[in-house]
Amino acid sequence: MALLISVFISRLIDGAAWLDTRRVPADNEPVPKTTADPRQPTASVILTSDFPAAPAATMIPGFEAACAHYPVTDFPLFCHAYGELCREDLNGKTAVELACGRGDLVVALAKRYPGSCIIAIDRYPESGASIRAAHSRGEAQNIKYVCGDAQDLAFLSDASVDLVFGQAALHHLANDVTTLSLQTRRVLKPGGRLLFLFEPMGHNWLVSCVRSIQVARHEMGDESNLFFSTFRELALPFERVHVQSFNLCGYFLKGIPSSWATSLARFANRLDRAIASIWPGATKFGANANIIFFR
Ligand SMILES: C[S@@+](CC[C@H](N)C(=O)[O-])C[C@H]1O[C@@H](n2cnc3c(N)ncnc32)[C@H](O)[C@@H]1O
Repeated sequence: MALLISVFISRLIDGAAWLDTRRVPADNEPVPKTTADPRQPTASVILTSDFPAAPAATMIPGFEAACAHYPVTDFPLFCHAYGELCREDLNGKTAVELACGRGDLVVALAKRYPGSCIIAIDRYPESGASIRAAHSRGEAQNIKYVCGDAQDLAFLSDASVDLVFGQAALHHLANDVTTLSLQTRRVLKPGGRLLFLFEPMGHNWLVSCVRSIQVARHEMGDESNLFFSTFRELALPFERVHVQSFNLCGYFLKGIPSSWATSLARFANRLDRAIASIWPGATKFGANANIIFFR
């Protein structure tokens, strides 16, 4: 019921006309580019969005800690997200995590790919605690922690990185999408990927209201939601962007006891896909998304 009300209100307020689907990006819909854009896009951007098939039930070994601070109902979604992160073998390659927080994700990645070189960036000196703990145990020596602004990648050479990624990071960096897109594209090698995992989406008005209450209660100054327009803007210098939407039905399961949560969340994900097969525009109203930019 909460889901139906939220989608109803979102559609009612967001689109003046019920049948106007132009604002929902269809699969393979080219994103118009203006020649005046200073980023001088090289090819036409293709924006695609979907609810991915039911995510794997099991986590890639060693990645559990990287999402342990998120609601347990999101666990299957993180299984999927980390599958996306580990899509290519990173041994012999360079990866950069933006806004790494404690650094649990890079520690898991560094252990899985000991032959990789991983750079983790966060703005606070006290961030990266899990990296320091791993280093003190003699582990994850292939990670370097850099304290600084994720928008400033001047210390990295052009076309020197295979993968740039962030978890719950883009919504902290979307205040300057132009710089972010220019910097990340510059450092990525041709064929490289820019991957943002589990970002909060803002098209669903009920979800946005719930998040606003959390932001107000906890005085979270730099929290924001993302929109497809943000991805289109960020995608301008890239070839293609794929949005994997999640949590249309599952968002409202938060707080369910853990014994029930995983199977209910997977059911909710299947329900999302069923809804999308009837109404593809529903992907816009998922509460979270993985966003993949292809260089
Ligand atoms: C929601 S936390 C996510 C942390 C981690 N990726 C995770 O999933 O647990 C956001 C992180 O972004 C960092 N951050 C925010 N703005 C930043 C910026 N401009 N440059 C670098 N880090 C930033 C914060 O310090 C914080 O650690």
